[in-house]
This record gives sequence, C-alpha cells and structure tokens, in this order.
Amino acid sequence: MTTFARISGTGGYLPAKELTNSDLERMVDTSDEWIRERTGIKSRRVADDNETTCDLAEGAARRALEAAGRTTDDVDLIIVATTTPDRIFPSTACLLQQRLDIHGCPAFDIQAVCTGFVYALDVADKFIRTGAARCALVVGAETMSRIIDWNDRATCVLFGDGAGAVVLEASDEPGILSSHLHADGSYEKLLYVPGGVSTSGGCPTGDDAYVKMRGNETFRVAVNTLGRIVDETLAANGLDKSDIDWLVPHQANIRIIQATARKLSMPMERVVVTVDTHGNTSAASVPLALDVAVRDGRIKRGETVLLEAFGGGFTWGSVLLKY
Ligand code: COA
Repeated sequence: MTTFARISGTGGYLPAKELTNSDLERMVDTSDEWIRERTGIKSRRVADDNETTCDLAEGAARRALEAAGRTTDDVDLIIVATTTPDRIFPSTACLLQQRLDIHGCPAFDIQAVCTGFVYALDVADKFIRTGAARCALVVGAETMSRIIDWNDRATCVLFGDGAGAVVLEASDEPGILSSHLHADGSYEKLLYVPGGVSTSGGCPTGDDAYVKMRGNETFRVAVNTLGRIVDETLAANGLDKSDIDWLVPHQANIRIIQATARKLSMPMERVVVTVDTHGNTSAASVPLALDVAVRDGRIKRGETVLLEAFGGGFTWGSVLLKY
C-alpha cells in the first residue's frame, strides 16, 4: 500500500513585542499610509534581545505536537527551515531537538530563505514516503529582525519574526499530493546579505550583516514566477483552478498575494492573509498562515490547499496537499 505524508497538527508562535507602522514612522522616513498601500502590512512582531530563533521554533513545535495529539517521544525526524539560525552550528534543528529532550533521530536545518518551509516539507514528505520516518516535526522559524538594518526604510518595514510548525505523519490517505521546488542562483544580487562565514572578512559586522534588496525587480520576478508555479502545480495533478479550496501563500506583500490569487481566479476570501499583522517572516510565513487558518476553522480536513513561496536565491516552490 502507498504511504502518504499527512499533516496531523499545526502550531504557530509569535514574539510578544509588536512593532506598528507608527512605531516605524518614528524610526525612519516612512508613513503608515505608504507601508499599508505598498505592502499591506500594518504591524509585525519582533523578538526580544534575549529571544532566539530556537525559542520561537520551540513554541511552534510544542503547539503543533499538542494539536497532533503527539508527544516528543513520537518524533523521528526534525527539520527546521531558517535563514537566521541561533548559531553557526549546531543547527537550530539540533538545538530544538535538545530543548524537546529528543535523542537520536536525524535533525537538520534547511536554508532556502523564504521558501525554506516549502523545501523542508518536501524533504520530510520524501522521508515519510520512503519509510525513513513516520512522524516528522517540520518547522519554519526566523528572527529576521537580527539581519535588518533598522535605518533602511526600503527593507525594515517589510520583515517580522515568528515560527510555524507542522507534524507530518505517515498515513494511508493523502496528504501531500505533490511538491515543486526550484531555484535560480543567478538572481543572487536582487536579495541577499553580503556578509557570511567564509566571505572575506569572516562573520559579518556592520552594513554587510544586513538584508539588501532591489525591491521593485524582486517584486516583478516574484509575481511572474509564482504565476508559473501555480500552472505547474495544477498541471502536475491534472487539476483545474476551481479544485483548489485554499491558497496559503508566502506573506511578503499583499500585492504579490493578490496577483497569485488572480492567476488562480480565486476570491480573496479563499486566500489566507497574515501579512497585515505578521509582515514577512521568511521561512515562518507559510506555516504560520496555515496554522492561523486551521485554528480559526477556515481550513478543514479533506480540503485541497496550495502552499507557495518565493525567496532569496532566488528560490521558489509549492506544495499541494489534502489537509
Ligand atoms: N516609506 C516611504 N517611501 C519608501 C519606503 C518606505 N518605507 N521605501 C521605499 N520608499 C520610496 C522609494 O525610495 C521610492 O522613492 P523615489 O520614487 O523617490 O525613488 C518610492 O518609495 C518607490 O519605491 P519602489 O521600490 O519603486 O516601490 P515599490 O512600489 O516597488 O514598493 C516594495 C517597494 C519593497 C514594497 C516592493 O517593491 C516589494 O514588495 N518588493 C518585493 C519585496 C519582497 O517580496 N521581498 C521578499 C521576497 S521573499
């Protein structure tokens, strides 16, 4: 019998500290009106100085386990998607494993920036389908605030911190129907952090430690690319646009989300939007949005859900699943 991988529980965790657009008006030359009109963002959460990506990941993971009716003893695979790990090493997944008092199972991070969770979910799906794991904890967690230049109005208004998680389990019923992952490294310079461990100068300091983005060009590539991945996903499954019950998009900008919804001929009531209160939480954005819509009762068991994301690299991808 075919083994599928099915989401059995979701969880989300946001730091308590809220940063509103009016707070940002006091920090850089911007306005609430500009931010809302251009991005759809009203506020975002920001981690405290002593709060790490692993702290957020732990909050989301525990909630996902609880929702799935599972304990830490059941987990046999941990994948954390993050661009902002606590340390160079050990991986945030290993730090999370330690927090959860889990021992022995594989644990590793995935770095695909905002597409990280979609990548991680696909990898976990493959572990489960091949029988290498039965109960995976898949987390997207970020403290993007640590790699943002809070004096750069072009980027600091966009990002937020948070974590989302799912428990993915072996099941006789689908589950994840298909995944589609892509990358094109030639777009490096449109969205990147200059500094890194092995670049000259070693660990980044000052301006090299912060996100650089050519927003307008990134926007255009994102809209076109996400439109294409919608077509690719529908064609691979022999589905029509009307077969999709919910779109759970990466939450970077409401205008990008609206463009993808138009591509799907989908009314915005069927699109999960959290960018207004979360901002762009990178790898955390898709699982956080999924968790919000599962918990408030919008996404129900058996419904067909399309997850998609786009991010630095560029990377992009989608997962089609029956919830
Ligand atoms: N407040 C006020 N004005 C701002 C501003 C801010 N926070 N940030 C930029 N501006 C200004 C610019 O300086 C520019 O001024 P100018 O015309 O005098 O030069 C003007 O607003 C327009 O800038 P532009 O970059 O062309 O705006 P835009 O409509 O493209 O919106 C983004 C900017 C960043 C919101 C938009 O490009 C975007 O969302 N890009 C994709 C970002 C993204 O998704 N990144 C992550 C991918 S995972």
